[in-house]
Amino acid sequence: MFPANLVETQNSMFKIDHINIEGNVALSPMAAISDSPYRKICRRYGSMFSFSEFISADALVHGNKTTRDMLRYEVEERPVIIQIFGKNPDIIQEAALIVEQSGADIVDLNMGCSADRVAGGGAGAGLLKDISLAGRIIEAMKKAVKIPVSAKIRLGWDQNSKNYLETLKILEGSGVSMISVHGRTKKQAYTGTADWNAIGEIKSRASVPILGNGDVESYEDADNKIKEYGVDGVLIGRAAIGNPWVFRGSHRSRTHVDDVVDLVLMHLDEMLAFYPEQNGLKLFRKHAAKYMKHFFGAKEARMKLLTCESVEEFKDICLALKEGCWPDSEN
Ligand SMILES: Cc1cc2nc3c(=O)[nH]c(=O)nc-3n(C[C@H](O)[C@H](O)[C@H](O)COP(=O)(O)O)c2cc1C
Repeated sequence: MFPANLVETQNSMFKIDHINIEGNVALSPMAAISDSPYRKICRRYGSMFSFSEFISADALVHGNKTTRDMLRYEVEERPVIIQIFGKNPDIIQEAALIVEQSGADIVDLNMGCSADRVAGGGAGAGLLKDISLAGRIIEAMKKAVKIPVSAKIRLGWDQNSKNYLETLKILEGSGVSMISVHGRTKKQAYTGTADWNAIGEIKSRASVPILGNGDVESYEDADNKIKEYGVDGVLIGRAAIGNPWVFRGSHRSRTHVDDVVDLVLMHLDEMLAFYPEQNGLKLFRKHAAKYMKHFFGAKEARMKLLTCESVEEFKDICLALKEGCWPDSEN
């Protein structure tokens, strides 16, 4: 059961254009984490929608197969937001249309990626240096699609160029329907702490829904941020990796080992089914490492799980954990 205040948040609702969003907390888009299998699990655990990892607009338009495969989702994930990145309005316009044709509910423009290979070339957070271009990109997307267009931003390029209020004005003027805000600058990447006062300031000036993001560790924390800063919802990134319980107001470390193992095995099966042409087990390792963090004290089992090459062996080790063969010495 949720504490009363969490029930309140869980039951609340807002709209992104005509789309009803139930709940206020969701899995943040994360490359190589927020794929369909994990989004689906998080939706089941209470994430208010599915928000995809970023997808290259150029690669989509050029028909790259692996990239097109990233558009896949399952019906139970709806509402589905697909995030794209790039900097060329014509290409992004075409990519937005491809996203709409995939059946997604919302298309999002990434204006927050701080990786130099993306931002350095002017895409992702690079767009914060040229917000009129960002505005033209949103307008181009709006012209191409009927589904809502949203954007995920940071506070600015660096400490001396925090232009979030101008960015808000331009994006709203261009027709954006929702903005997610990671409360850091591009220069900060993931250092320092997220500035929630700035997020609150954006919310107080905005006419579209605002989702706050940065350093939220728990459902209670998200709930407090919603109350304190008035945001319509909160995105949880790193604290949700290997921890979908966060969307239920609980935590992996408070979950019985049997339930964690059951979820690990289910997630692995989903990955194997979703990535038939790739090494699903290898792709799953980053999730497994997080599921086991703080939980399984047995170092030996953890090492084995993260290095074993066969699915059968992986499952055997998991089942042994369940049967108590690996004492949970850290708890
Ligand atoms: C591994 C990883 C991958 C990420 N990939 C994306 C992405 O594809 N698109 C995006 O908008 N943000 C991406 N982010 C940023 C997160 O969505 C989020 O804004 C950031 O981690 C701050 O939230 P947190 O403190 O809850 O983790 C990524 C973050 C991490 C840690």
